[in-house]
Amino acid sequence: MATFTKVASLDDVPEGQGIGLEIGRKRIVLFNIEGELLAVEATCAQHGAPLERGVIHEGNLQCPWHGAATPGGVGRAAATGRGPGSPAA
Ligand code: FES
Repeated sequence: MATFTKVASLDDVPEGQGIGLEIGRKRIVLFNIEGELLAVEATCAQHGAPLERGVIHEGNLQCPWHGAATPGGVGRAAATGRGPGSPAA
């Protein structure tokens, strides 16, 4: 059964930028894309680039090393500060 842990509020993540977070032994990055949070693993699956240095381009997260794009819908949290029950609110 999935459990949810509040790790940040929308106000903690500047628009168009990401912040790195440690949750237990896992490192993630939260991006604020036009008021919605995108949560991804902190390292790129291709060759391990630090994705908190990635950029948002046309709604997709682009890897800082080789430019692979993660579609904005993948890993996007349902939260936009709508309430404490939201996964990343
Ligand atoms: S390390 Fe991310 S695209 Fe190569």
